[in-house]
Amino acid sequence: MEKTTSKHLWWQEGIIYQVYPRSFQDSDGDGIGDLRGITSRLDYLKWLGIKGIWVSPIFPSPMADFGYDISDYCTIHPLFGAMQDFDALLHEVHARDMKLILDLVPNHTSDEHPWFQESRSSRDNPKRNWYLWHDAKPDGSPPNNWLSVFGGSAWEWDEPTQQYYYHAFHTKQPDLNWRNPEVQHAMLNVMRFWLDKGVDGFRVDVMWHMIKDEQLRDNPANPNYNPLELPYRQLLPTYSTDQPEVHDIVKMMRQVTDSYHERMMIGEIYLPVSKLVAYYGADNKGAHLPFNFLLLALPWDAQQLASAISEYEGALPPGGWPNWVLSNHDKPRITSRVGKSQANVAAMLLLTLRGTPTFYYGDELGMRDVPIPPEEVQDPQGLNIPDKYLSRDPARTPMQWDDSDHAGFTVAKPWLRLPENFRKVNVKTQQDDPYSMLSFYRKLIRLRQEEPALRIGDYAPVYTDSQAIAYTREAGEKRFLIVLNLTHRPCYFNPEHEAFSGTIAISTYLEREGTPISGTISLSGDEGIVVRLAS
Ligand code: NOJ
Ligand code: MG
Repeated sequence: MEKTTSKHLWWQEGIIYQVYPRSFQDSDGDGIGDLRGITSRLDYLKWLGIKGIWVSPIFPSPMADFGYDISDYCTIHPLFGAMQDFDALLHEVHARDMKLILDLVPNHTSDEHPWFQESRSSRDNPKRNWYLWHDAKPDGSPPNNWLSVFGGSAWEWDEPTQQYYYHAFHTKQPDLNWRNPEVQHAMLNVMRFWLDKGVDGFRVDVMWHMIKDEQLRDNPANPNYNPLELPYRQLLPTYSTDQPEVHDIVKMMRQVTDSYHERMMIGEIYLPVSKLVAYYGADNKGAHLPFNFLLLALPWDAQQLASAISEYEGALPPGGWPNWVLSNHDKPRITSRVGKSQANVAAMLLLTLRGTPTFYYGDELGMRDVPIPPEEVQDPQGLNIPDKYLSRDPARTPMQWDDSDHAGFTVAKPWLRLPENFRKVNVKTQQDDPYSMLSFYRKLIRLRQEEPALRIGDYAPVYTDSQAIAYTREAGEKRFLIVLNLTHRPCYFNPEHEAFSGTIAISTYLEREGTPISGTISLSGDEGIVVRLAS
């Protein structure tokens, strides 16, 4: 291994791939993906060049929010398999020198979790204070104006005990009271349970939600509310999220993680950059990777992206390792958002920026959001807010493996429908096609993993205009120039300060690979290039 790599850890150098377990591979013919299914596809992920596999929740759950409502943290939902299947998965992941990251959902449990069952059983139950119970206002209304992400008030009235409980998400997802040391202790033990088993890290669900204002102050109105968004955004979550004390909790979680060898913690955090970076924690003793969602939140515009990249690079604390995300199970897929040709450019951006890249299963094929007819909608966010089309189902459809019936995902009817074009867009047809998106992803991943400059090297912005972004990556003697045209029109880039010369290592236009570059660089519409610079 090169000298420059020695101080970097696997989660800094490697690529993370998100598996939505219901939709990756079914092994038992019930139309729902499962653990044995994932295990059977590990060779594909290895072939692709993935290091870390993040699997969304696989624990017992009534599935009101497809596993993000957990009723038992320390076992496996029978739908996904048994503990032996989990152990086998972990073993096979490690046998391939890959890592397994589990989803930890500490902010809320299912209302069917025994902790909540006890808590709601009476006002003087010892677990009453494990959740957020409050009296009604004198007129019977909820304690404050806080809204649920999935629609309506975040407070649910409990008739038998005559109090409200708080749920940031579904009514079946009551929020835990993280100010209670017993709750802290119980959840840190959940972490230890899986770390003892050998899992390599956690993606921590809604980390910035974990502590709420103790005085329960009303949230202010959002002056920039856009009626197409979730009604939740009518208010700014000033008092219901991102409270200063959350960092003490994150620190405790980090201490547990750090008591094991080379484990890591990713925080799911939707906040502006200045607040996001606080989750690295004092002295970097917070989350190893507070998820950076800039690429999935910003308009696909060269200038906006370039300034966001600079802002993020500039805001990172010393020693804080960057990361980038293209899509996930809560957001529209990248190919639907920017179109197929720009999705290639997006992949090049993701895989050449400085920091750990995370992408979502099927992005590498150009899978798109699949229109789900209203009668087939399953996502609570879609069902609870039916007047807006906010269901997340379209981005959660089965992985498209081949051109057989049900795309090789299952032998039965899949839990969500496949798109009409799955016989063309699938792993099998793309695997041997040098022009496919899958081949393009794999090639980029390879180059990135072979070249320290791209994997862990320094980043320097070079140029931006209304069409293109250019930057360099450098380590030791090696240097790469990346130029991305974020529009459909051709453009050119005339470096003012430095005459770059080199050879195109990868282009979104295959024919251009190997072409020498010097002076003014012309790009086709939707072209991105990685240039190996002459030293
Ligand atoms: C974030 C998860 O990504 C999302 O799918 C879920 O609905 C909420 N957290 C609630 O757990
Ligand atoms: Mg199954």
